Amino acid sequence: MKNKKTFYITTPIYYPNDVPHLGHAYTTIAADVLARWHKLLGEEVFLLTGTDEHGKKIAKAAERAGKKPKEFTDSLIPEFKRAWKILNIDYDRFIRTTDREHEKTVQEIIEKVFKSGDIYKGTYEGLYCTDCEAYYTEKDSLNLQCPIHKRQLETLKEESYFFKLSKYQSFLLDLYKKNPEFISPSYRRQEIINRVKGGLRDFSVSRTSFDWGIQLPFDKKHYAYVWFDALINYISGVGYLDKKKQFNKFWPADIHLIGKDILWFHSVYWPAMLKSAGIEMPKKIFAHGFLTIQNEKMGKSAGNAINVGDLVSYAGSDPARYFLLRSTPFGDDGDFSKEALIDRHNNELANKLGNLVSRVSALAEKYGLEKTALKTLDSERIVKKVAGHLDNLEFDKALNEIFSFVDKCNEFIQAKKPWETHDSKVLYESGNAIKDISILLFPFMPETSEKIARTFNFEIELGELKKPLKVSKIKKSEILFERI
Ligand code: ME8
Ligand code: MG
Repeated sequence: MKNKKTFYITTPIYYPNDVPHLGHAYTTIAADVLARWHKLLGEEVFLLTGTDEHGKKIAKAAERAGKKPKEFTDSLIPEFKRAWKILNIDYDRFIRTTDREHEKTVQEIIEKVFKSGDIYKGTYEGLYCTDCEAYYTEKDSLNLQCPIHKRQLETLKEESYFFKLSKYQSFLLDLYKKNPEFISPSYRRQEIINRVKGGLRDFSVSRTSFDWGIQLPFDKKHYAYVWFDALINYISGVGYLDKKKQFNKFWPADIHLIGKDILWFHSVYWPAMLKSAGIEMPKKIFAHGFLTIQNEKMGKSAGNAINVGDLVSYAGSDPARYFLLRSTPFGDDGDFSKEALIDRHNNELANKLGNLVSRVSALAEKYGLEKTALKTLDSERIVKKVAGHLDNLEFDKALNEIFSFVDKCNEFIQAKKPWETHDSKVLYESGNAIKDISILLFPFMPETSEKIARTFNFEIELGELKKPLKVSKIKKSEILFERI
């Protein structure tokens, strides 16, 4: 038997210092849409998500909550899992960096990197932002403030092991050159290339001033730097140590999906670490933009975070998924508001898609379906376009394409007036178009698609796009989107 094509996609592992918010949901929904799409294409998919639990940021948050770090993160993990459940995120593994086999993997990789001569002992003296868990130079700071969190940077001085990042400059430049899509979208490449050309400084990979982390195997006083630990989740989470067969099947990752805030770690540190450990490179790092609220980056540190429970309370899970990917080209920054979400819910989901399904199903219940050749509402061209857009992570364009077709269907019905003519061929042609629309929408709005599939009696499979709708007895659909 021929091996199925595989698709391995990851989200960042989020800091569980509070409940998950809109920004976390954004990346995770996009990853889920791609995972569902590749499953429709018949590929074997692995979607990895999880939590980044070590380091000073979490240790401080735990202290504020009056808990031990592990006790603190244990209390928040169910919140993440619940959020992904209500958003219908169909992940294959939820990795925690406190999982035993992850810790063992980190120790093994750091040992390998040490043995390849890329780790040496020194002293770190400089600036640090605990919100980013990142080292800053004075030059990269804004008057000694973090450029992202706009807070005073800490001054650190401690014994530390360093990773010889400087050694990988030409390797990295070569990697970007030979793989133009390695850093995507393309407009984010040049900035990274320029910075790498400007010279790379070795980075500190251990801390000694606190102990919430993974001990270095060759020096127990030292605990792994949280980013060194976290990035390794992408291999440990798919079984680098404990499920070799699965690891070999899925690695290298097809896409590491992230926000633009953490592109440097993923496009510079991570490939250099992998190279040093003798592991194959991932295929693509895709960095999307920020969701803003009144043009301020939304986040916990800024104090304007919208949690996932609130997001879903506005109009439900499918409309939230739809809105986030419809409103902003993936890659760009986009402003979020509850009003805009409700607007699109009412105008596009309730009035256009909801109306189409309810009208056609109600008329089909009365007058039946009669098979006919498809003339006006042929979706073949649309299927191709949607596939092309999803290949490029252009979710907004894919949805535009689908919704132009919804408009076309509504116009067709308006022109043919089946409520006067009782023409069951018109109803058949419309029902068949609804089938194609809902299969294409499935990755975005799985609950809605499943409801439509039950009404019109078809399976949600890519092959069904090629098959004409079965003639069957139809019952009027429940209301898909209640106007708000
Ligand atoms: O950085 N708009 O975790 P984190 C869009 N643990 N996306 C946003 C966003 C916003 N306003 N706010 C957050 C970390 N995100 C590390 C990652 S990976 C090995 C370790 C999303 O909890 C976006 O994906 O700060 C961003 O990159 C991520 O959440 C940061 O999550
Ligand atoms: Mg952050």
